[in-house]
Amino acid sequence: MLPACAWRWQRVLRDVARQCIFPAMSAKGCRLGVNIDHVATLRQARGTAYPDLAAAAQACLAGGAQGITIHLREDRRHIQDRDVYALRREPGVRLNLEMAIVPEIVAIACDVRPDEVCLVPERRHELTTEGGLDAAGQAAAVHDAVATLAQAGIVVSLFIDPDQRQIEAAACSGAPVIELHTGRFCNASEAGAPVELDRLIENAGLAHRRGLKVNAGHGISLDNLRGILSVPHLDTLNIGHSIVCRSVFVGLRQAVAEMAAALESYDGGST
Ligand code: PXP
Repeated sequence: MLPACAWRWQRVLRDVARQCIFPAMSAKGCRLGVNIDHVATLRQARGTAYPDLAAAAQACLAGGAQGITIHLREDRRHIQDRDVYALRREPGVRLNLEMAIVPEIVAIACDVRPDEVCLVPERRHELTTEGGLDAAGQAAAVHDAVATLAQAGIVVSLFIDPDQRQIEAAACSGAPVIELHTGRFCNASEAGAPVELDRLIENAGLAHRRGLKVNAGHGISLDNLRGILSVPHLDTLNIGHSIVCRSVFVGLRQAVAEMAAALESYDGGST
């Protein structure tokens, strides 16, 4: 195993070599889905009617987002049922609904029919989604939920850790898409980050070879984006908290525009 600094230099040299061999290689970009849960968190903090989620979604689209993500949690701490229905009706919004595999929420999803559903694990007292879905340990439940949602015409994605066992389970689940949990990389120390990034890179490659579309999300910010953009085969990054935090200073449209511009530099990552 290489020490962290050797690993970093190895990657720098590989990228330089790639640019020398393929100088004209054009950036292909990566799509941005903006998670607006925390716009709803502000509203729920006071029980007001504002800020308006549909207006927030439109500001994200104006800033260059390709999709809007929301998480209808069982405890309804931010997104409410009415938000899901309202955003589904909002013109131009490609809606990705994050949800746990629970009958009540599956029924709502089948009624609303968002463009995409991302199945996530949920623990009532967690601050945010901790860890990925155990697609391998709950194969039957995941398979059934994927089948039910797919039958309603919804594209299903599984939010999983960058782990070979989970990727293989996802490939057998019937879901055409995965979202790799980037939280461990994004929250890692400088010493721990290279190992976590290698995990993302390897498992994105594996998922791609298994025919899965690869998205990623959790904890991504402009500060850690460089590492994330070295992950290959990325289609969409779902980003929420850092964008909503940045919007306090520059406004939502501008905060999204900054992230969307950064994602344009994606050239397919390390392959
Ligand atoms: N993707 C999934 C599946 C999530 O659960 C979350 C958090 O709700 C995100 C992406 C966005 O994470 P963050 O808010 O840290 O950018």
